[in-house]
Amino acid sequence: MTPLGRSPRPSAPSSPPAPDATLHPAGFVRLGVDSVSRRPFDVALPDGIVQHVTLLGLTGSGKTTTAERLAEGAVASGVGLLVIDAKGAGLRAAARRLAAARGIDHREVVPGAPGTLGYNPCAVGSRAQVADKLVSAFTHGPAGQVYRVIALETISILVGMLRGLGEPVTIRRLRRELDRTRMPGLAHRARDLTPDLADDLAELSRRGGVSADAFEGMRARLGALLHGEYGGIFDSDGPQLDLAAALASPGVTYISLPALAVSQDTALMARVLIQDLKQAAFLRLQQPDPAPAMLVLDEFAALDDPEQINDLLRQAREARLGAVVSTQQLPDPRTAHALRGALLGAGLLIAHRVGHDDAEAVARVIGTERGVQVTRTLSDAGEPVRRSVRAVDRYAVDPNVMKRLATGEAVVLGVAGGRRVATIRVLRPEPAGEP
Ligand SMILES: Nc1ncnc2c1ncn2[C@@H]1O[C@H](COP(=O)(O)OP(=O)(O)OP(=O)(O)O)[C@@H](O)[C@H]1O
Ligand SMILES: [Mg+2]
Repeated sequence: MTPLGRSPRPSAPSSPPAPDATLHPAGFVRLGVDSVSRRPFDVALPDGIVQHVTLLGLTGSGKTTTAERLAEGAVASGVGLLVIDAKGAGLRAAARRLAAARGIDHREVVPGAPGTLGYNPCAVGSRAQVADKLVSAFTHGPAGQVYRVIALETISILVGMLRGLGEPVTIRRLRRELDRTRMPGLAHRARDLTPDLADDLAELSRRGGVSADAFEGMRARLGALLHGEYGGIFDSDGPQLDLAAALASPGVTYISLPALAVSQDTALMARVLIQDLKQAAFLRLQQPDPAPAMLVLDEFAALDDPEQINDLLRQAREARLGAVVSTQQLPDPRTAHALRGALLGAGLLIAHRVGHDDAEAVARVIGTERGVQVTRTLSDAGEPVRRSVRAVDRYAVDPNVMKRLATGEAVVLGVAGGRRVATIRVLRPEPAGEP
């Protein structure tokens, strides 16, 4: 490991470490090998990852491979793994392989795939939380705030009543009940069990105008979810994804969110899921000693929701849930200032080959060191006639180094358990078939 204050040199050609040097020590991820000292670069579990891990790098620089290496080391130490893959199928095979290699549970949510889990976002959380999850999935312009508030109130009432009646709450059921002509009937049935809610619902059903429009609007939106790419997942009555349980056990859970495929549907699913994850993280806060867990979110920028991602990082950090997030580029400070700050303030910042602006930003975070600058003045004949030396501040890691890293190489800044800076070559995960 290179101590802060010494610029990492470009890696010199040398022999790879001995084979057993690539194994993850218990309680650590063996991420890579220091390009200067040739010593392994290990990350402690969970302390080294709970203040989130940022993976930054241009396309093809090695982000997904590094995410897989981190996941592999975590799973080897018994950490539960949840992978949200916004790029496509990049990590799907890896997730399956990691579970098979350890003989642990493997679950996946992949639209249309045989054996996929179903997912019911209405299953967990208070009635207000369920309403918030569903309503927040949709954008409401400033003029739409009144619809948003009405939808929140109505869905919260419906969830409370259906639960009171002991009936399953699903997106499909809520969509059906968001109908003024059905509301009096439901209110009547629930009168004895949840009298206050029944009165409120009966009152809502008598409102016209904006309220009626809000019901229609929310019905249409829930319909869009049911008829979109994830409709089969929401409607499934087979085994269901339980995020809190996935984070509390040593298994591997993979969720496909290929944002580029059907972007609108995926964006809706992503928002519902991220809300749910925030709630699952919050639940962990109430457990005295939650099981260590890692969340890998590859290519989060595809989800196009910087505020939510930033909230999720904050919530995950509080709940000691190790979030690993990757992106090709830091977000624009004008539109996503908070997320940009959070990404640069990671507990472990891993910069693969990056462009000019990101290289400067990472170099600034790593900081400067005092160096000396020697200036020589030459005579007309080319003879040195004067030599001056002065102290200058310069980047501890030159941004140009980050722009020229080879695939799989990275500049790493770790802050957990003592600050360290290194240039490393990330070790490849074990190839398929060789657990
Ligand atoms: N540490 C590594 N050692 C050797 N090869 C690597 C390493 N990391 C990545 N590669 C190779 O480089 C290629 C690109 O890697 P990877 O898919 O991880 O990059 P990426 O940054 O996720 O790219 P994209 O932006 O396209 O998703 C792959 O063929 C991979 O096998
Ligand atoms: Mg990738």
